[in-house]
Amino acid sequence: MDHHHRHILLVTYPSQGHINPSLQFAKRLVRMGVKVTLATPFSAINRMTKTTTTPTPSQGLTITGFSDGCDDGYKPGRDDLAHYMSEQRRHGSEAVKQLITATADRGQPFTRVVYTTLLPWVGRVATSHHYPSTFLWIQPVTILDIYYYYFNGYANSIKPNCKNDLSLSIELPGLPILSSRDLPSFFHPSNEHDFALQIFKDHLDVLDEQTNPTVLVNTFETLESEALRAVEKIRFVAVGPLIPSAFLDGKNPSDTSFGGDLFQKSRDYIEWLDSKADGSVVYVSFGSISELSKQQLEEIEKGLLESHRPFLWVIRPNGNVEKKDEDKLSCEEELEKQGMIVPWCSQVEVLSHPSLGCFLTHCGWNSTLESLVCGVPVVAFPQWTDQSTNAKLMEDVWKIAVRVTKNEEGLVKGGEFGRCIEIMMGSREEGEKMRRNAKKWKGLAKEAAMEGGSSDLNLKAFLNEI
Ligand code: UDX
Repeated sequence: MDHHHRHILLVTYPSQGHINPSLQFAKRLVRMGVKVTLATPFSAINRMTKTTTTPTPSQGLTITGFSDGCDDGYKPGRDDLAHYMSEQRRHGSEAVKQLITATADRGQPFTRVVYTTLLPWVGRVATSHHYPSTFLWIQPVTILDIYYYYFNGYANSIKPNCKNDLSLSIELPGLPILSSRDLPSFFHPSNEHDFALQIFKDHLDVLDEQTNPTVLVNTFETLESEALRAVEKIRFVAVGPLIPSAFLDGKNPSDTSFGGDLFQKSRDYIEWLDSKADGSVVYVSFGSISELSKQQLEEIEKGLLESHRPFLWVIRPNGNVEKKDEDKLSCEEELEKQGMIVPWCSQVEVLSHPSLGCFLTHCGWNSTLESLVCGVPVVAFPQWTDQSTNAKLMEDVWKIAVRVTKNEEGLVKGGEFGRCIEIMMGSREEGEKMRRNAKKWKGLAKEAAMEGGSSDLNLKAFLNEI
């Protein structure tokens, strides 16, 4: 069905983990004949337009920037995150309001506003201008269920446990039994971001004001079928995985790109991967935000050297700061004989390369979905936000991962990485099972995204409703 009379404004947070699924969502809508304007703060725009090939306005997609008060982008260590978020809300609300009115004045008003995680204020701006809005949640639905439960009667089961025994179990309807260490980091006693829970509460409050609220989710039916139905008051609609078409449904083989690159990448690593045996390479990457301490990096280094397996390791340059001698890893030369270190890569292309054996990841939701779509088993080293829960799901529910254990000082030692890599890559039955499961999920993810698959039908049904 042609939806060309529909014009959706899609507003998204400027970090890579949010831009990537949003851009895929926009492309999917455009393929279904919907006109889309994707709006995000300027800090992401430069990155995206420089390095991404996207449909053009004449093909249905317009990408536009606005100021969120921090046009060179939020920098950890330099900026206070709580302040950045509140300034973003203030500047962003004004900018989105202007975009809505200017577009209406030109005679092409938006027919709906869609906004992603961390931007509840967009829903409020839409409502105050009498525009219908829809929330697109870009983490697993299990996480939104947990926040919902926390604010709707389960606070005592979720929070107090954290202060006590980490092995205590938390039972929430429709979800696997969780321990404190599986919860989103904002519930942990060590959480430094007090404002974060309030943002999720705001999201739920916006939904609470709607009759029959529907939330679109970057997941798929078979992956989280119970969690999708856990909350009676909200209808969750799975429309994922939001991954470039070339790696998923193959409908558009030229669609290999995501939302721009954080750092320059070369093509050398693809040639290097080509030279390796099937299933032999360990891929190591911790997304676009997390910074690991030098001590922790050196333990990973030890684990990789101990494994004697080829590896591709993404170490993002620390901002624009030039690398100092003390930043150098102690065995860099030895490392480079065994593997390759790059500042950035095309991750989905790497994960779908036949030489890939396993992925040592921080378990960001995009990295998690990309592992599932590419059928790559995981060594899970979650850092913060949703990542511990994602690791729990991968390890205990989908059974494609083994999670590393920290020592008493909170450090994961080299030997522990070596042990987990060996489980994943070695010939033991445990690893073989997880490799088989990873292949199974690859099939199910593709099935959901295909023409006529559950996510494809869900999105079409949603478009027909609005
Ligand atoms: C953040 C949160 O940390 C994550 O938990 C949340 O679910 C989404 O927002 P981030 O930490 O960057 O994201 O991790 P992730 O969700 O994995 O997203 C990173 C994206 O960057 C992935 O799509 C990955 O393919 C891409 N990437 C990463 C590259 O393309 N190249 C790289 O070298 C590294």
